[in-house]
Amino acid sequence: MNGFASNRRVLVTGGAGFLGSHLCERLLSLGCDVICLDNFFTGAKRNIYHLLDYPNFELLRHDVTFSLYVEVDEIYNLACPASPIHYQFDPVQTTKTSVHGAINMLGLAKRVKAKILQASTSEVYGDPKVHPQREDYWGHVNPIGLRSCYDEGKRCAETLFFDYFRQHQLRIKVARIFNTYGPRMHPRDGRVVSNFIVQALTNEPITIYGDGSQTRSFCYVDDLIEGLMRLMDTPDQITGPINLGNSTEFSMLELARKVIDLTGARSKIVFKPLPSDDPLQRKPDISLAREALQWEPRISLEEGLRPTVSYFESLLKAETS
Ligand SMILES: NC(=O)c1ccc[n+]([C@@H]2O[C@H](COP(=O)([O-])OP(=O)(O)OC[C@H]3O[C@@H](n4cnc5c(N)ncnc54)[C@H](O)[C@@H]3O)[C@@H](O)[C@H]2O)c1
Repeated sequence: MNGFASNRRVLVTGGAGFLGSHLCERLLSLGCDVICLDNFFTGAKRNIYHLLDYPNFELLRHDVTFSLYVEVDEIYNLACPASPIHYQFDPVQTTKTSVHGAINMLGLAKRVKAKILQASTSEVYGDPKVHPQREDYWGHVNPIGLRSCYDEGKRCAETLFFDYFRQHQLRIKVARIFNTYGPRMHPRDGRVVSNFIVQALTNEPITIYGDGSQTRSFCYVDDLIEGLMRLMDTPDQITGPINLGNSTEFSMLELARKVIDLTGARSKIVFKPLPSDDPLQRKPDISLAREALQWEPRISLEEGLRPTVSYFESLLKAETS
C-alpha cells in the first residue's frame, strides 16, 4: 500500500477470527500497534498464536456488546459470527453483537476521534432481485426469517454508522464483504468452501444444497484485506458502502469439481434441499471499489484454493494426531 503511516494504534474487533487474524497480521507487518479484541465465540487462539510475540500486539478478551475505552486512531469492527450455523446458534446475541457492538464501537470512535470501518456484508442485499448487486440497490430481505438476525443486524449497523456520520460527523467507512475464503476459516461452519474442502480431504461425499446451479463469487482473503485497508485509507468524504468481493461467478457444482481436482479426493457429489432464504445468485458489482480504491481481486480461485487446502490438511492432521 502506498503512503501507509505505520505509527497508528488500531483496534480490530473480532481479531481472532478468520478475517480479523489476517488483518491483524497485515497491520503488524506494516508497523502498526494492534489491539485484537475478541470474545472467542467463533475465533480461536490458534489464529493469532503466532502474533503474540510481537511487542506491538495486544490481545483483549472482551465482548463488543459491552462498552470499552481504549485510545486508538482506527477501529475495524469485524466482531460478529459470520456463518449461519454460528449466527443462528444464539440469534438474539447475534443481533446484539451487530447492533450494540456497532453502538459501542461508534461511541468509542466518537470519544477518541478515531476513524471506524464496519465489516458489513453482501447479506444486506438479501435474496437480490438485481444482478450483479450495486451499492445503490436496497436489497430484498426477509425481516423475520432464520437469517434475519444477521442480515437485519448488519443493516441496522450500517444505519447506525451513517447516523453517526450525519449526526456526529464521525469518519466512517462501510465495506460490504462478499464470500471470502482462505486459511483460518472455521473448519465446521457450514460455509461452502470449507465444507467442500473438509469433505474432500476426508473422502466424504460433497454435499450440494439445491441442484448446484446456484452461483457464488469467492474472494481470497489477501485480496479482501487489501481492499479493507485501502478503504480505511481513503479521504474522509469516502464513506462507502463499497462492495468488496470477487465478481467472477462459479456454480456450486464447478466449485465442488475444482476442490475434488485439487485434493485428488474420491468423494462423490450428493444433492440436498436448499435451506430457507438461501439466495440463488450473488455477485458484486465492484466498479465503485475499482474507481475509489483502485482495487480489484488479483488471486484466482485455483491460486487461493491451494493454500486453503494445505491449511485444512494440516488442521485435520493436527486434530487426528
Ligand atoms: N468471511 C466472509 O466471507 C464474510 C462475508 C461478509 C461479511 N463478513 C464479516 O466480516 C466479519 C469477520 O468475519 P469472519 O469470516 O472472519 O468470521 P469469524 O467468525 O471467523 O470472525 C468473527 C470474530 O468475531 C468474534 N466475535 C463474535 N461475537 C463477538 C462479540 N460479541 N464480541 C467480541 N468478539 C466477537 C468471534 O469470536 C470471531 O473471532 C464479520 O463481521 C462478518 O459478518 C465476512
